[in-house]
Amino acid sequence: MPRAYSRPSTDIAEFQKLLKHSDRVLALCGAGLSAASGLPTFRGAGGLWRNHSATSLATPEAFKDDPALVWLFYAWRRHMALKAKPNAGHYALAELAKHNKNFMCLTQNVDGLSPRAGHSPDMLRMLHGNLFDVKCFDKQCGYIEPNNLRDPLCPALAPASEDYPADKTMPLLDPKQPTPKIKREDLPQCPDCKRSGKTSLLRPGVVWFGEALPDGMLEEVDVWVAKERAIDVMLVIGTAAAVYPAAGYADAARKRGARIAVINPDRSARAGLTSRDFHFEADAAEVLPKLFEGIIGKLEIPDQGK
Ligand code: APR
Repeated sequence: MPRAYSRPSTDIAEFQKLLKHSDRVLALCGAGLSAASGLPTFRGAGGLWRNHSATSLATPEAFKDDPALVWLFYAWRRHMALKAKPNAGHYALAELAKHNKNFMCLTQNVDGLSPRAGHSPDMLRMLHGNLFDVKCFDKQCGYIEPNNLRDPLCPALAPASEDYPADKTMPLLDPKQPTPKIKREDLPQCPDCKRSGKTSLLRPGVVWFGEALPDGMLEEVDVWVAKERAIDVMLVIGTAAAVYPAAGYADAARKRGARIAVINPDRSARAGLTSRDFHFEADAAEVLPKLFEGIIGKLEIPDQGK
């Protein structure tokens, strides 16, 4: 017999009621949360950077092969993230964290917009690191500059920090234009290695494919998930849930009793959901404030200046 297809609910009022009676809430956020802030996602439209898929530049091997190209890509992402402002989705999540001390938010985003929206660091885990941490490529060295907001990071990376009017293509993003030539010695260098007579490059403090998540973070999240009390709700916000271990948290939460709420304009993101679950086929920035309204009230976004 064919299995009856049980659709997830799309009823905002029903979800609000569920959240109101929920205690332990887990969220997994992805690039779609920052889409309304103007930052491109990885796998959808805009997933290409010059002729490269964004994911092909995110490996230690790509950095070893062509550190200048990989640095230009990350220098551009740093610049874009610095120019962007947190949106209503980031603020709504930060408010929920203030109202519910049992709300744990895992984000795969490295853009820093959740911390800038005031999301308490105690209740936010940046699974894939942070664009603004700059660290030595040599793992043995351990040198790190946390929250380095310099833009451009060094003179050679200035082409990634230029601003162009919306109707003009930035030369760096135009694959028909040659990639700026940058000598290895003009890329950011590790000062600690230099002092001990070695030369090592600095690299962005993000987690690349094939690398482990920040020390102790997985264990900490596992402990939170496995706590005695069940998880009531798992929010899956703006992520294709294609990268592990992050992608495994929805199943882990379901096993701990959670009902899943997917917030994603892509209909295919509802795959695997049942009638116990929810799918809000919408922009996270628009729908999150509504979903949390019963807890956080009407969201007020602070003046973010120009
Ligand atoms: N609101 C909510 N979701 C959105 C929006 C929006 N406004 N716009 C797009 N989305 C959805 C897309 O439909 C897609 O499912 O966001 C998702 C983005 O998916 P990806 O681009 O794959 O990004 P993400 O899931 O965060 O990628 C995970 O992959 O490359 C690595 O380390 C990188 O952290 C990243 C990880």
